[in-house]
Amino acid sequence: MTKKTRRLGITLILAFPIMLMVGCDKTSTSPKHYVDDNWSQADVTRGGLLYDKWWTVNESSTPTTNFNPLWDSQTTNTRSGGDTWRCKECHGWDYRGKDGRYSSGSHYTGFAGVYDASDLTAAAIFDAIKDEDGDHDLSTVMSDADIQDLAKFIKDGLIDMSQYIGPDKNALGSSTAGQAKYNTNCALCHGANGLALDFDADDGTQGVGFLSNDNPQEVFHKIRWGNPGTDMDGMVDKGLTNEDISDILAYCQTLPLTLNDAANIVRGGLLYDKWWTVNSGTTPSTSFDPIWTTQSTNTRTGADTWRCKECHGWDYKGKDGAYSSGSHYTGFTGVYDVRTSSPADIYTSVLGTGTDHDLSAVLSEQDASDLALFISEGLIDVSLYINYSTKLSNGNTTDGGALYATYCESCHGSDGNTIDFDDDDGSQGVGFLSNDNPYEVLHKIRWGNPASIMPSMVNLGVSDANINDILAYCQTLP
Ligand code: HEC
Ligand code: HEC
Ligand code: HEC
Ligand code: HEC
Repeated sequence: MTKKTRRLGITLILAFPIMLMVGCDKTSTSPKHYVDDNWSQADVTRGGLLYDKWWTVNESSTPTTNFNPLWDSQTTNTRSGGDTWRCKECHGWDYRGKDGRYSSGSHYTGFAGVYDASDLTAAAIFDAIKDEDGDHDLSTVMSDADIQDLAKFIKDGLIDMSQYIGPDKNALGSSTAGQAKYNTNCALCHGANGLALDFDADDGTQGVGFLSNDNPQEVFHKIRWGNPGTDMDGMVDKGLTNEDISDILAYCQTLPLTLNDAANIVRGGLLYDKWWTVNSGTTPSTSFDPIWTTQSTNTRTGADTWRCKECHGWDYKGKDGAYSSGSHYTGFTGVYDVRTSSPADIYTSVLGTGTDHDLSAVLSEQDASDLALFISEGLIDVSLYINYSTKLSNGNTTDGGALYATYCESCHGSDGNTIDFDDDDGSQGVGFLSNDNPYEVLHKIRWGNPASIMPSMVNLGVSDANINDILAYCQTLP
């Protein structure tokens, strides 16, 4: 009993004889409960969000100590601090506690769920949560209105997740039907591939696809009620049914797990070379401003100014590499050092939405993923292969000759001059270009030549050392 009801009880006992005398026909002696007057204002959505992480919803401070003595009454779940105060941590994303998804694993506590509590009266649920002076006492961290919203959520908001999610965590809805619903309701923020927002700063990119497979019950709860403390609203309020949400979840489970799963590194290498011939974009006719006009040494115009290689170099080292002087000099840095950043950060830099580097109008999310993967895993330290003073490859020309015969000769001929690369200046073949710009040729042997039938040697499994041997041999061609 709470202090307040105890006081009211005493008042009633004193009032009892008077009530009898005036012939009061009310037989109940129980005082009015908070919910009796306020239930109509209870907000089920807010309750769902509080259940997830209440302190981000009622703007109280994040608990720093454990929810004791309750938390200490178990030893299997070793989390501490704020986590131990989340309803979901003890009662589960499926509301079934030890009888649901948290029946084993690191979240196991042995505590029961709240699913069956929905049969209790609103007042009884309210009292169980508030539990003033009991072990479950939450009265110090939340208001009666908060507790009532939680009670409303438990009374009216719970669903039987096993109707929508199978025992092996697979969503039972239709992913085909879910695609359109995802695109309408989620893609704006999460991107068509679900990777636009990264949920895990530590582990590289984790998007909607990963979480939907890893913890579908959590995602189902969040799609229904929203994500507390962010602008992601719940779909219950938008009128979506549980079947709609089940379809969305099924589609989310088909989304790529990480940036790298979605991306094609070879395509990234080709986009780096000349993206509009790879993504069927329009050839840019104006310069890549405002970036291009911040330098004046490189006087190219139009499409050339949009090629990644024009600013960041064939050796990926920009002003610190082969473009440190000459007509291609811009003073811009390379992308070589960025390769150690997380793929998600690289992806964001490449797209550059809202910055001077904004390529979001011309590159798709897929393009940016491919480029990010190329930068994070495809770059090599070109100085290991090419001497920057002599421009000569240090590869083995004998091995290179054999590889050239296997991989190049059928198109470029034994002298490398079957295909002429330069319409203006007379014949320019493999030999000429390999000596003139070995950095470019190394890149193209690895990734191929965009919009042509020339294959990528990386794709064919040829090692970087052997690719360098091919380059060394090409430098001996006429
Ligand atoms: C540290 C673990 C823990 C946290 C956090 C926690 N509870 Fe509980 N809860 C329990 C335990 C243990 C019981 C008692 C179950 C029993 O009676 O055996 C319980 C009981 C309940 C009951 C009564 C269930 C019934 O069937 O009678 C409700 C309702 C409830 N909790 C709701 C909540 C809500 C809402 C929150 C979040 C604001 C919450 N709990 C946070 C552990 C927790
Ligand atoms: C208005 C923008 C917005 C919309 C629309 C939106 N979300 Fe979110 N969502 C967010 C934000 C912001 C986060 C928090 C990201 C973070 O934690 O870094 C988030 C988080 C998530 C999470 C991860 C929660 C966690 O545990 O970290 C999932 C899963 C998710 N959203 C799925 C969806 C799905 C599915 C839809 C469509 C039904 C959707 N979102 C609609 C903005 C949105
Ligand atoms: C017109 C020149 C130009 C073009 C074209 C260009 N960039 Fe950049 N890029 C820059 C400049 C300048 C920066 C900023 C470097 C800095 O922060 O100082 C930059 C930054 C970056 C970064 C972040 C580097 C860092 O250190 O954080 C990445 C990644 C990147 N560019 C990738 C690309 C890709 C991929 C393309 C082709 C699709 C491209 N860029 C096209 C000039 C260019
Ligand atoms: C299936 C045919 C084919 C194969 C095999 C092939 N290439 Fe090519 N290569 C091409 C075509 C087509 C072009 C584009 C010619 C043009 O731009 O006019 C090209 C372009 C080039 C270029 C010039 C790119 C530029 O900047 O204009 C070089 C250098 C080159 N290839 C070297 C090689 C080497 C080395 C190999 C073997 C590892 C090879 N190619 C394998 C068809 C092929």
